Amino acid sequence: MLFWGSLMKLKKISHRKLTNFVWAILGFFLAFLALFFQVPGFSQQPVTIYLLVRALEAQQLQPLAQQFNQQHPEIQLELIEAPNDTNRVEDLYTASFLLGNSPYDLVFMDIVWTPKFAAAGWLKDLSGYLSPEELEQFLPGDIQGGMYQGKLYRAPFRSDAGMLYYRHDLLEKAGYDPPETFDQLITISQDLQQQGLSEWGYVWQGKQYEGLSAMFVEILQGNGAFWVNPETLEVGLDQENAIAAVKFLQQTLTTKISPPGVTTYAEEETRRLFQNGKTAFLRNWPYVYGLALDSPIAGKYSIKPMVHAENQPSGACQGGWGFGISATSKNPDAAWEVIQFFMKQESQKQFVLANGYVPSLKSLFNDPEIVAKYSHYPELLTVLESPALRPPIPQYAQASDILQRYLSAAITNTMSPEIAMKKAAAETRNLLAVSK
Ligand code: GLC
Repeated sequence: MLFWGSLMKLKKISHRKLTNFVWAILGFFLAFLALFFQVPGFSQQPVTIYLLVRALEAQQLQPLAQQFNQQHPEIQLELIEAPNDTNRVEDLYTASFLLGNSPYDLVFMDIVWTPKFAAAGWLKDLSGYLSPEELEQFLPGDIQGGMYQGKLYRAPFRSDAGMLYYRHDLLEKAGYDPPETFDQLITISQDLQQQGLSEWGYVWQGKQYEGLSAMFVEILQGNGAFWVNPETLEVGLDQENAIAAVKFLQQTLTTKISPPGVTTYAEEETRRLFQNGKTAFLRNWPYVYGLALDSPIAGKYSIKPMVHAENQPSGACQGGWGFGISATSKNPDAAWEVIQFFMKQESQKQFVLANGYVPSLKSLFNDPEIVAKYSHYPELLTVLESPALRPPIPQYAQASDILQRYLSAAITNTMSPEIAMKKAAAETRNLLAVSK
């Protein structure tokens, strides 16, 4: 009896021990599974990184995104198409940040968004991610445009600069050199129109949106005027030479070198007119060069720095796009992987070759394949030499909104240039005083 009792006890203990052991194994297995499905690299389930991009560029970025996804099975990059106007995309990003957790891990950023997004604390500080030697390889303006108060918030991807496109075939026919001044642009345009060589002379972006401000800083610089001094916050919009800049735009309409519809055109509308041979001159960004190679005017156009007033400098609006990481992203490491991929020389080269954009990596300007396809790169460098900056201040979006409203009023003849610029200057001063 004694023997049996002891045996049962032993069996009981062994049974309990066994059960505990089985539970421990099961627990361990479950924990392993959980880890397996959470950690990128171990998991079958990739981490998805969302990026909102203007529609045209989203299509152009798609091949690189596909390559990234193939090379990184643990990360899925998803491009979401946004409207083409930069300020509308900025509004979408802003709304998502204001709501709290932004659904976008990466922010494909226009150069002018950096101070606002950084000052608001919406972006991760990327300063430690790139060494000074790595930064040195990019155009200084692109790095500068990603900095706010000494820290880097935007990694450069591609640069941009406004320029003048012209039909060299028409100028040759009529015996003209390309124009240097505003006056020459008007006279040559009128003559080409009168001779029936071109329906319109000059086409530019006059719609009330960010592109209007970008185009206008070039006309300001070409008149020796300025918008806002970022150091002193002085506003120059109501000075005489700034008013002269508005008058030049008005003059393009009164002389009928520009179509009346220009006051509603963004980049794409103006590109189509140029490509379809409807205008002799166009103000636009480098992307037009690549697209127009495949159009009826192929081989008939060239680029040059923007026209300016006598004895004043030319101005190329400094644009450009790069990547930031949302401060609330749950996958900042995967987001950084994406950025590294896009910053690589091979990726930038492929993107530039396919689409004719300006690279931000300096070495690509001398790349034989790029130079062979885009023979205008030497001229492009001269364009980039005279950058006109939109003021890099946190209140930029509001300042630009004010300028756009009053410029639009002036070019659509609802306000005189003097009154429009006086009001624009006063409102801008108020804005900057309140936020000081
Ligand atoms: C281009 C420029 C950008 C600018 C925009 C205006 O995309 O790169 O900086 O704000 O045009 O439309």
